[in-house]
Amino acid sequence: MVESKYDKIMRIAKNRGFIWPAFEIYGGAAGFYDLGPLGSSLKDKILKKWRQFYIVKEGCLELDSPNILPEKVLEASGHVDHFSDVMIECSMCGATYEVTDLVKEVTGEDVEGKGKEEIKEIIEEKRINCPECGGPLGDIHDFITMFRTAIGPEEDRVAYLRPETAQTIFVNFSRLQRLARRQLPFGVAQIGRGYRNEISPRKGIIRLREFLMAEVEVFHDPENPTHPKFERVKGEKLRLWTAENQNNGLEDYIEIKVEDALNQGIIINELLSYHLAYAKMFLLSLGIPENVIRLREQVVGERAHYSEETWDLEVYTEDFGWVEVAGFAYRTDYDLSRHSEFSNTDLTVYYQEEGEDDGRKILPHVVEPSYGIDRTLYCVLEHSYTETEEKEYFKFDRELAPIEAYIFPLITDDGLPEKSREVLEALKDKGIFAKYDSSGSIGRRYARADEIGVPYCITIDHQTVEDSTVTIRDRDSTEQVRTEINDLPQKIRKLLCKEIEFEEAGSTF
Ligand code: GLY
Repeated sequence: MVESKYDKIMRIAKNRGFIWPAFEIYGGAAGFYDLGPLGSSLKDKILKKWRQFYIVKEGCLELDSPNILPEKVLEASGHVDHFSDVMIECSMCGATYEVTDLVKEVTGEDVEGKGKEEIKEIIEEKRINCPECGGPLGDIHDFITMFRTAIGPEEDRVAYLRPETAQTIFVNFSRLQRLARRQLPFGVAQIGRGYRNEISPRKGIIRLREFLMAEVEVFHDPENPTHPKFERVKGEKLRLWTAENQNNGLEDYIEIKVEDALNQGIIINELLSYHLAYAKMFLLSLGIPENVIRLREQVVGERAHYSEETWDLEVYTEDFGWVEVAGFAYRTDYDLSRHSEFSNTDLTVYYQEEGEDDGRKILPHVVEPSYGIDRTLYCVLEHSYTETEEKEYFKFDRELAPIEAYIFPLITDDGLPEKSREVLEALKDKGIFAKYDSSGSIGRRYARADEIGVPYCITIDHQTVEDSTVTIRDRDSTEQVRTEINDLPQKIRKLLCKEIEFEEAGSTF
């Protein structure tokens, strides 16, 4: 049987310790995965980049809140009433299905956003039966996809695992706005787990019940939804698949400059336009190629209850087609007004713009970039996966490589292992994530390191003992340079940060 790309990636991912299904010895549980040592490191590198983009460069404040939210918070946010999927059950074997997934799987038709009655008619018309047993399907009904729990020994206080990290940002708005010195716009970021009790997750690591989110809520003046750095991105080209084109059955996206999309009213405001362009730049920085990135506007009926306009940032994958890795919602003042009402707390702010004589009382509006980090990680794996005649390997961008360097003694004799360990410690002391490998031939060691995307392999040979130099091998070109041990940590650091190119790391021989 031909191995699909997803299967190839997951084979290496499981064997080498990137990612694997959780609870395997108990038969697993769909929608839950473990990140192994390499997956955890890759995730950290992606988050480091994300923080660089949103915390350092965008200047967002960072928050880290509980994962369990009292029911009241989620009543206010509208999730208790709206956070549900449409479910159908087989009347014979009891198998459950998320209806839009089922219809898509069986007929290829996308019924996301359509009403229950309409979907029921499609199911009858197309004679869709249970894919498990062929039995008839029952009625369609809503299923709340939040995990319910309770707080305290009496279990009298209903709570839920958070469906998004956003809510505690809204709940803390007053305090955060003070910390932001009452400026608008200002962003607050939160990285953390989100939970969604999917009815029947069938897409491996693409559809998880517990996932890592990285979200930003950008609070702004609704009369002035601008971004101070819009100039920097306005010429960026975006591939937009608008809701209008989807409704008109047009399969393709348009390629358009951000400023044109804004001026033509395709994107609702400058702030959202800025963030769509910025997000594309973020994906490019992870090594995801531009030709597999597009932005799809959600059609009416598909959008979350709080959103007036939503764009999904999608990446093309071989097995799953276009996969949403981030969503960008214009949440208006929905959340702040609901929390004002439910908590009896006035969340309006007195805002005076620079140069204005008078201030105004306003309830800020929100633009929300929201990333799913696990899906992003999978897309990084897929678009780094490279097959040549000799090998298959993850050609990670060097800033993302989970292990940064491997140290090999050429032979396990003549003091080379001891020297290698000295070099290893010197690299580690400088914060480089390096490992040691002395088993098997040097060729096999290179192959093992390449497979998991290690960008640089350092070999200690007999010349090292004579003149304190080592070789560095570049994963992609397989070329080698020779450099002094004393310079090695700094050279590797500069290579990893892209401050120098490989040819500058030493002399060729
Ligand atoms: N906060 C956006 C989402 O949950 O999808």
